[in-house]
Amino acid sequence: MATSPRPKKISLGLLGFGTVGSNVYRILDEQAAEIEQATGASISIRKILVKDPSLHRSGAPPELFTGDFEEILGDPGISIIVELIGGLEPAYDYITAALENGKAVVTANKQLISQQGSYLFRLSQEKKTQIRFEASVAGAVPVIKVLRESMAAAGIQNIYGIVNGTNNYILTEMYRTGAKYQDALARAQEWGYAEADPTEDISGKDAAAKMAILASIAFHSGVVLDDVACTGIENVSSLDIAYAKELGLTVKLLGVAKLYQNRINVRVYPALLKEDHPLASVSGAYNAVFLRGTAIDEIMLSGPGAGGMETATAVVSDIVSIVAHSQPGFLEYPVAYRDLDFYPDDDVVSTFYLRLEVEDEPGVLAAIARAFGDHEVSIESVIQKGRGAHAELVMVFHPVAERSFAAALEEVSRLPEVKAPPRPIRVEGENE
Ligand SMILES: NC(=O)c1ccc[n+]([C@@H]2O[C@H](COP(=O)([O-])OP(=O)(O)OC[C@H]3O[C@@H](n4cnc5c(N)ncnc54)[C@H](OP(=O)(O)O)[C@@H]3O)[C@@H](O)[C@H]2O)c1
Repeated sequence: MATSPRPKKISLGLLGFGTVGSNVYRILDEQAAEIEQATGASISIRKILVKDPSLHRSGAPPELFTGDFEEILGDPGISIIVELIGGLEPAYDYITAALENGKAVVTANKQLISQQGSYLFRLSQEKKTQIRFEASVAGAVPVIKVLRESMAAAGIQNIYGIVNGTNNYILTEMYRTGAKYQDALARAQEWGYAEADPTEDISGKDAAAKMAILASIAFHSGVVLDDVACTGIENVSSLDIAYAKELGLTVKLLGVAKLYQNRINVRVYPALLKEDHPLASVSGAYNAVFLRGTAIDEIMLSGPGAGGMETATAVVSDIVSIVAHSQPGFLEYPVAYRDLDFYPDDDVVSTFYLRLEVEDEPGVLAAIARAFGDHEVSIESVIQKGRGAHAELVMVFHPVAERSFAAALEEVSRLPEVKAPPRPIRVEGENE
């Protein structure tokens, strides 16, 4: 009778036992038999690094906890290090040391990958090992694996990402209930969708880090956090959302990465989308990534963007992939193997929505239309609303180079009939 070969034993060092780390331990423990069937390997956690081991008495056997990273690094039996501490330091030092020692690394750390990814990818290649980071973008949604493996030849040109659940929850509440930004933020905090200090999320910085990672992989050229300009959602008004709704538009904080004539532009900003666009229906704390490529037309991936168990699932999928690809293969090659230039925001062609507060007098619309026309900015639709002595013009424009739109807007804002600084919002999904 044929017997199955004995499973190879893989031992891990886990750094961090918080929301994600404790769930990684749980999945590996509870799913051990299935994982062994799928990979032919028996995968177990040999050591867990935490700040103070004496405080960890549950969730895993107490003897696994240590406060000393060297104990994990120096253990020759540990071949994979799973970093779930977060932040730049000491995570960077630990990951670097692990790779230097030829150990494979799995991390969920978007700050680190978006700032030091290029160096770490190079180091892992030099040391003939792997670094994987699926959980750093969009939680349980397997977008990095899809981009690196399934879409390697898809000619990705554009990525649109709803990659921050906090912003999406707040904007969904504002759109659904008409709530003001501050009230929707308070509700998000009450329900645990926003941190007590939500700055990193609502400034767009968290989304910018994730878009830097996605753009690097999709365009094969290093993009770091500092390359991604971001505008947060603090200035999105409930009035704009109400008018946008009348125009059949919804609002999202979008990460937008474009490859055009071998140059890159990556930004994060609040944008309007037609209600029938696939991303428009992504609501609450969900994440989604919408890809457009020469060979694939359009593909969207969506699902839970955070949560201990959801994120841990992505971490475990990386561990399984490392075990399955333990011979050198294409995943040991660097993510960003070419060096493309960036193209300036001014050259990007965008569609804009604009609300203008103007004097309610004859001839005002004509003067404004003339100013836009002088810069070859053409109006697609306009709604006029009376508001006492003033009126509001709500306009949507045809796609235009941002340089021309900015010049026209500058001129319009100086017209005596215009009563408040104009604040445009980009409309996405229209001008490709
Ligand atoms: N939570 C999510 O939904 C989510 C989603 C996507 C990605 N991520 C990413 O996943 C990673 C982990 O997040 P998390 O939410 O699990 O964090 P967390 O709950 O704050 O846990 C952090 C863990 O790291 C340990 N730690 C912190 N500083 C340390 C140090 N200097 N030395 C040793 N151990 C240290 C802590 O030890 P103690 O227990 O002793 O304090 C704790 O166990 C982060 O990169 C985060 O961005 C999280």
